[in-house]
Amino acid sequence: MTEYHLPRSRTECETLDARDSLRAARERFALPPGVIYLDGHSLGPATHGALARTEATARSAWAGGLIRSWNTAGWIDLPQTVGAKIARLIGAEPQDVLVTDSVSVNLFKLAGAALPLLGTPGQPPYVMYEQGEFPTDASIVVGLCEMTGALPFQIAARGALNTFNGMHGVLIRSLVNYRTGEVADVAAYEAVAAKSGTLIIWDLSHATGVIDVDLKALGVKLAVGCTYKYLNGGPGAPAFVYVHDMPEKFMSPIWGWFGAKAQFDFGATFEQKPGAAGFAAGTPPVLSMSALDAALDAFDGVDMRTANQKARALGDLIIARADAMGLQTISPREASKRGGHVSLVHESGYAIVQALIARGIIPDFRSPNAMRFGVAPLYVRFVDVWDAMDQLADILETRAWDRAEFHARAAVT
Ligand SMILES: Cc1ncc(COP(=O)(O)O)c(C=O)c1O
Repeated sequence: MTEYHLPRSRTECETLDARDSLRAARERFALPPGVIYLDGHSLGPATHGALARTEATARSAWAGGLIRSWNTAGWIDLPQTVGAKIARLIGAEPQDVLVTDSVSVNLFKLAGAALPLLGTPGQPPYVMYEQGEFPTDASIVVGLCEMTGALPFQIAARGALNTFNGMHGVLIRSLVNYRTGEVADVAAYEAVAAKSGTLIIWDLSHATGVIDVDLKALGVKLAVGCTYKYLNGGPGAPAFVYVHDMPEKFMSPIWGWFGAKAQFDFGATFEQKPGAAGFAAGTPPVLSMSALDAALDAFDGVDMRTANQKARALGDLIIARADAMGLQTISPREASKRGGHVSLVHESGYAIVQALIARGIIPDFRSPNAMRFGVAPLYVRFVDVWDAMDQLADILETRAWDRAEFHARAAVT
């Protein structure tokens, strides 16, 4: 396993890159020349494999094979076979992961399935989420409560462990916070949940593909996650659900035919497939799922512990350089508590990010003031971070960001 450390010069960055055991993985990506891509936490770049597979699936399996490809090209099994590839990255059993729908829809399905298991007479269950959680995670919870009579409850940021102790219900929690990059102490949360009769649904969107996580060892029963970020599945690639060791009556609130045991019997009754497979609903997006299938090959031979170590060292480098510029970070300074991105704050953060993009360096911005720099370890090098930070320092020093075109907000930030 490569050992990474904090480099103090560009030359040291070059040395680290040269002996990086993940160096070969970068070759699998179709990165545009002249671009330093630090936004893999929002949309991962294309891999050569995914591009080739998209073309082949469209031309050969779809145009050539037509309907036969559901069987001959294995389309019908993709949600499971692709799920099994993701399982290796998160410490899950292959059959516990299913690729389906979006994170938002999967949160709804899992929370909706959990609620009927949890109420006690006269006391509806709580559905809890933390302040500062990703907006969809919170609004799905509130909407579900409106429908079911469950009680929405917002937990103070970082106070979660104390607050939900003794509360009975469902907690939706990001493993890595989308804004700060802070990593939750999963084992501690699960221990409290077990005592208070709460089921936690972990949102792994900012964790999968960058954090070394072992869901089974941590006692996690339910999770959802995104595949278009660090898994590089492509824009809008389907998300995944993880269901482990739940009772048979853990029923998806969406009784779709793809989740039915005897799907092609076309019977009038619905009997849900066991485990994660029962959380399929409708027809999977085959082109997208095929691209994801191929994209996951970028992780072949990658040890997630190494990937995690490298992301931490790259994050340390961002923080060290930001300190020298007098920039504040809202991300944990301690590497072991941080995911794959570092957020630096500045009141003109949006314009600064646009000025960086104009120079071929692509991070992103989260309102009101966070500039997020993602360090996906499979393709981001130490020299990339070093050069990006040089440009950031120059932009700040010369106030190159303070131009009208950089202040104009686009629809997507
Ligand atoms: C933490 C987190 N949860 C949920 C989502 C929403 O995912 P989806 O668009 O697949 O519903 C995102 C999207 O960026 C996210 O970052």
